[in-house]
Amino acid sequence: MNNNYKRTLVTCALPYANGPVHIGHLAGVYVPADIYVRYLRMRGREVLFICGSDEHGVPITIKARQLGCSPQDVVDKYHTIIKDSFAQFGIGFDIYSRTSSKIHYKTASEFFRKLYDEGKFIEKESEQYYDEQAKTFLADRYIVGTCPKCGAEGAYGDQCEKCGSTLSPDELINPHSSISGSLPVKKKTKHWYLPLDQYEPWLKQWILEEHKEWKPNVYGQCKSWLDGGLQPRAVSRDLDWGVPVPVEGAEGKVLYVWFDAPIGYISNTIELIPDQWEKWWKSPDTKMVHFIGKDNIVFHCIVFPSMLKAYGDGFILPENVPANEFLNLEGDKISTSRNWAVWLHEYLADFPGQQDVLRYVLCANAPETKDNDFTWKDFQTRNNSELVAIFGNFVNRAVVLTHKYFDGKVPQNKKPEQIDTDTLGQIPAIKAAIEDNIEHYKFREALKEAMNLARLGNKYLTDTEPWKVAKSDMERTASILNVSLQICADLAVAFAPFLPFSADRLNRILNIEAIGRKLTWDDLGSAEILSAGHILNAAELLFSKVEDEQIDAQLAKLNAEKAANKAAADAARGTQIASAKESCTFEDFSKMDIRTAKVIEAERVPKTDKLLKLRIDTGLDVRVIVSGIAEYYTPEQMVGKQICILANLQPRVIRGIESKGMILMAKQEDGKMRLVSPEEGVISGSQVG
Ligand code: 2FM
Ligand code: ZN
Repeated sequence: MNNNYKRTLVTCALPYANGPVHIGHLAGVYVPADIYVRYLRMRGREVLFICGSDEHGVPITIKARQLGCSPQDVVDKYHTIIKDSFAQFGIGFDIYSRTSSKIHYKTASEFFRKLYDEGKFIEKESEQYYDEQAKTFLADRYIVGTCPKCGAEGAYGDQCEKCGSTLSPDELINPHSSISGSLPVKKKTKHWYLPLDQYEPWLKQWILEEHKEWKPNVYGQCKSWLDGGLQPRAVSRDLDWGVPVPVEGAEGKVLYVWFDAPIGYISNTIELIPDQWEKWWKSPDTKMVHFIGKDNIVFHCIVFPSMLKAYGDGFILPENVPANEFLNLEGDKISTSRNWAVWLHEYLADFPGQQDVLRYVLCANAPETKDNDFTWKDFQTRNNSELVAIFGNFVNRAVVLTHKYFDGKVPQNKKPEQIDTDTLGQIPAIKAAIEDNIEHYKFREALKEAMNLARLGNKYLTDTEPWKVAKSDMERTASILNVSLQICADLAVAFAPFLPFSADRLNRILNIEAIGRKLTWDDLGSAEILSAGHILNAAELLFSKVEDEQIDAQLAKLNAEKAANKAAADAARGTQIASAKESCTFEDFSKMDIRTAKVIEAERVPKTDKLLKLRIDTGLDVRVIVSGIAEYYTPEQMVGKQICILANLQPRVIRGIESKGMILMAKQEDGKMRLVSPEEGVISGSQVG
């Protein structure tokens, strides 16, 4: 590991512009990256912070179909929402651009073309699913059917959202195209592949030997990919939305979204600093760090580095890829399609001016080592018992008392005592712990340390009780408040990477502007940030309580979502039931002789688990029907039951017994069968229809 970097290039996963950003994205990627960047900037390091919207790929085209508009309309809408909400939330990118930009098309095309010209790809024909009605190849997402693992309807060709299984379209039961509903057929098509297998020895050395310091979840995922053996990966797709494959004979083909999206990091840098971008991407003095979620690990640790390696020309590789796990919401997986999320733009509208509360909670509860859960109750508790009761309370007491006893002027520290030295003496260790944790991407721990500084201040005030000392010793009171105000200034520095809005407010309260310079990281723990005589501004509350009603409103919103999801699932099931069979004519239906009947005798068919032999009074005759209902009814339960039967079904011999007809049953949601019975008083033999 090189420790002598001159600058840091930080990238954040480009969010898909098929929906707004939610708390899962924030906790996993954007909040930690922003903390990291703000910290480095406060240390005076040279940093570039790059992001933008990922505007290609199947999720965008699916959304466009759902909304009945063009993919461009979809990305225009969400790009704006995402960009604005990031800005309001204080995520300080140097650029937030988009992959539908001209410059990105040019950069991505040229990147592909160079690899193509240098023979870095292999060309292969393969069979892919095709929708003959819609005349289009089908991405796995566009093929839906019944999940072979859990039986859920509507599973995708790549994944079942119900049970989370990874699937291939071949595994789906009753697969059909979600575009036309027709049965997909296989058709030959040509694509370009990056032969990842050729990069395997190099990747093994680079990751498994030279980057043992990567987070265990990242290292572990890379190791299992590499141990499993890499295969060539297709870098093009048959799709009408994306960067066209820039070679002849590739009409109707675009670059695979996971080929073009990471190049977006480069295009966005070029867009921002056309003359200097190479200094960031091609200098060994640049440390590159990719912030991503765990589902992006393979692309950022294996695929994109292989692309850069294949390209050569001095492109650097990431020094670290601190991927996080996932954040759940109230015990359930966050899902854009089920609208189970706390959306950033809605949070900003519901909690105006309270960006830092969410930043705090998401960092304190970040899924750094395992999946974590966000609950509104925890949000309220962390705000009320930590931000308000510890940090806010300390600052407010120190500032209000200074106004009360010293007209808002920082008093002189003429009467120091041991407790002051002991308290201030703890700050350098806290500072070092914050640094160490941030530099090792442990933002939760770093935040805890910053909070410990607020706890230290709070305890100091509680122990020294200046409001009591003021009755007899103003000189000592002055010292206590001087020390307290230095700690307030330390807090403004320590929290700046995490809670930038509150740090700004604290700077205003402390009137840092009057010092004539901005506080830097090195001020934290330094002897005297605020000199005696410095005039403070009026006290303002840093944080305010989150009330029960606010939490109840958020929970009500989620409950409404849950109810809507259930209703939609029920409706979908209803539609599937209704449309599961082809339509039939009235003549078809009237051929069936459905009648009420009564069970006279019932016994198990020997050596079977499922079959009952039933003697039935049909009103016309008494006959035997063999039925597979032993799983659901005992012979005793059946005797005397009024049922419905299909009386004119051709006789069949089952286990040596001639069965004449079929008992009508209803299949329930859980797969269990129940009898369809007529109302009491309907006599046997009555026709049903
Ligand atoms: O998972 C996602 O949301 C992707 N859009 C991330 C892309 S990251 C990068 F490679 F652009
Ligand atoms: Zn399933």
